[in-house]
This record gives sequence, C-alpha cells and structure tokens, in this order.
Amino acid sequence: MSEKELTRLTIRRPDDWHLHLRDGAMLRAVLPETSRHFARAIIMPNLVPPVVTADHAKAYRDRIMDALPEGHSFTPLMTLYLTEDTDPADVRYAHESGIATAVKLYPAGATTNSASGVRDFEKVRPVLEEMAEIGMPLCVHGEVTDNDIDIFDREATFIDRVLKPIRKKTPDLKIVMEHVTTQDAVDYVRDSSKNLAATITTHHLIINRNHILAGGIKPHFYCLPVAKREAHRVALVQAAVSGDKRFFLGTDSAPHTDAAKLQSCGCAGIFTAPNTMSCLAEVFEAADRLKKLEAFASLNGPAFYGLPPNDDTITLVKGPPVTYPESISTEDGPVTVFDPGFDLHWRVEG
Ligand code: DOR
Ligand code: ZN
Repeated sequence: MSEKELTRLTIRRPDDWHLHLRDGAMLRAVLPETSRHFARAIIMPNLVPPVVTADHAKAYRDRIMDALPEGHSFTPLMTLYLTEDTDPADVRYAHESGIATAVKLYPAGATTNSASGVRDFEKVRPVLEEMAEIGMPLCVHGEVTDNDIDIFDREATFIDRVLKPIRKKTPDLKIVMEHVTTQDAVDYVRDSSKNLAATITTHHLIINRNHILAGGIKPHFYCLPVAKREAHRVALVQAAVSGDKRFFLGTDSAPHTDAAKLQSCGCAGIFTAPNTMSCLAEVFEAADRLKKLEAFASLNGPAFYGLPPNDDTITLVKGPPVTYPESISTEDGPVTVFDPGFDLHWRVEG
C-alpha cells in the first residue's frame, strides 16, 4: 500500500525538543496545547529575567507543573540560559540533580529576550568544557548578530564563525543546532561524524520567505531565524523525512499576543503548538514518507539526548479537514495560531 493510502498512523508519543511556554497567564493558556499531544519538551529559558541558575530552573519547572491541566502527563525538560557569568559548578549541579537537561546559548541580541546572551564565546569556555565532561548538551541559537551580516545569511555565517571553532575546541560537547533554516546547516549537520544534531520547526517545513513578504507583510509568519528561500525549505523537508537520526522536531512554538506581533516593531515567533502534529502529518504525507514521522517526532530526539522513547502512543487519523481555533485567548490577549495555508486532514485521535 502506498503511504498515500494510509488513513491511520500510530506512533510513539512525540516530544518537542524546543518550546517556549512563557510564564504566568500565558503559560497557563499555552501549556495544554502542547501537553495534550506531547510527553516531554525542552523548555526555553528566555523569560524576563532569564532562567540562568539551577534554582531559577527548579522554580520555573514547579510553575509549569502547577499550570498543567489535570489528566495531562507531561515532563518539562529544563534549560539554563548561558551568560558570560554562568558558573560551571552550578551547571554541573543542575545536570547531576536532574533539574536541567541542557544549556541554551543565545548570541547576545539574536532574538526575543536575548540581551543577556553571550558576546565573547571565549568567556563561556569553562562552562562548555564542564558540559562536555558531564555529557550535557548545548542547544544553540545559530545566528550571528552583526549588523553588517544580512539577516538571511546569519545562520550560515554562524556555522563558520562560531560553531566550527566551538566544535574544534570542544569536540566532546554535544550540540543541538536549533531551528535550522538553511541547506548550509543541513549539509553541515549531515557531514558531521558525532555530537551534532539539529532540530527543525513545523513552520520552517511549510513556509518560505515569500509567505512573509509577498502580497503584503504577514507578521504571523515572522520568526527567527527568519524563513529562507524555497530551496532551503525543500532541503529541510528532505532532512526531516529522511529518518536520519540527527534531525528531529523542535517546534519553537513561540506565543506572542496579537498586540505584540501587530505593531511597527513586531515580535518574532510563531505559535504552532495547537496544530503541529496535523501540519507535520500533512508534510510527511506529501513527501510520501508518513512512516518516517515517528523517527522525526518521537525517536531521534530521545536517542540524541540519551533518553528512552515514550512508552505510549498516539494515533493520527485522516479524514475531512480538521478544525482548529484561529487564535487562543489568554488573559493577556489573543494569540494567533499558525495557519499553514492549506487544509489539514490528520487529527490526533482521542
Ligand atoms: O521566532 C522566535 N521567537 N525565535 C526565537 O529565537 C525566540 C522566539 C521567542 O521567544 O519568541
Ligand atoms: Zn525558540
């Protein structure tokens, strides 16, 4: 049977290896959209102020668990926000005590709430060496921030200027290049022999830069790294559907209120949590690779992080177009849900 004729697909319960949950009212509103389908997620630490220490991460994890709806089972995998003042001993403690799973590197100024990020990568060398020793992964926002580098070239430039030197000096450090958007990044990850993987978002598998800019500006498609030209999107799809263990799902679902997005300087971020699994099934089906969805969403991520895959499963069922809300309401205002621009036919059963 061609995969195009499949109408039911059961896969291990998926995990999200890059997620923004925010805090307070926003956290309470968006968390169920992820915990409904996902068992675990790597939680981004770019709150205001950021989640920098083991103590911060523990307190944030408690707030997430308090916000979890009854009947949902979900494990937040916490990250520490790397600053030039991060203490290697605190990182070791966070890892050994099970409080934090990874450390997040934001180049200073790269994106939302990244002002406390790293400017001089030599200053964080002792932390990176400690992490290599204890086997703690580094999640990387892979964009340089120099004003003279074109925004569409910032990921490729980051590979040459930052990632290659870090990997050369610390070959035992496990690195996740997050939300890759270019053929360059896909090739770089594919050519690496060990300790490097990449997450791919739902939206970067679906939109290219025309979606943002052609026929009127679409703020709800604006995120960082910004979507690139179509050839890059195709490269991302090929990597995602290949089953290659080095590529896995990190939605980068990043809720902002409509008020924060729809202004003269709007925030970067696309909120994909509510319809991610339906979008992904559509993408994998179109590539005739539905059966590889499980590797991408449920198997490759845990394997890289050294965790077991989830024991339970979800079933996707194909039928008439799925309905999902245009936006979800929060006490801070509405948050628009990602519109892939085509009908979604796969829904998660139950
Ligand atoms: O689009 C983005 N939104 N990219 C990021 O790196 C941060 C995120 C956010 O926090 O909103
Ligand atoms: Zn992110």
